Amino acid sequence: MERSLVLVKPDAMERELAGAIIARLQKLGLKLVAMKMLHADKALARKHYAVHKDKPFYGDLVNYITSAPIVACVFEGKNAVETIRKAMGATDPAKAEKGTIRGDYGESLERNSVHGSDSPDNAEIEINLFFSPEEIFGY
Ligand code: RTP
Ligand code: MG
Repeated sequence: MERSLVLVKPDAMERELAGAIIARLQKLGLKLVAMKMLHADKALARKHYAVHKDKPFYGDLVNYITSAPIVACVFEGKNAVETIRKAMGATDPAKAEKGTIRGDYGESLERNSVHGSDSPDNAEIEINLFFSPEEIFGY
């Protein structure tokens, strides 16, 4: 069964959108198997976004995701990664279709409301950064 890590980013937390975003994902037929609210530190954020470490926006991205508490979730189900990426919409909210999470809620390329894993392999790596095995439930 495929899993994906979702983060509700600071801009969405500020506007009390965590419930709305998680509800949208639950309606996709995916199972919510882990969830926590946390304030990520720089070390966690740097690891989470390590694939972007050589990009010019890496520092800003790490500062942003550590700027306020976030909600981290693990969703499980068939094609969880692709299903969630579709529901999220394009990275830049200005280019995301209406009806997608970023199209409806995103404010800017940085303040784009949500993270979702981009591959099943990266999902497992990311899930292990945010959760220990005992925090993930099958039911
Ligand atoms: P995420 O990892 O947050 O789910 O976003 P994504 O896969 O759609 O986009 P990704 O390429 O992984 O980029 C991670 C985050 O970096 C910011 N970004 N800034 N200035 C830029 O050109 C630029 N490109 C990406 C975005 O906030 C994106 O969510
Ligand atoms: Mg990404």
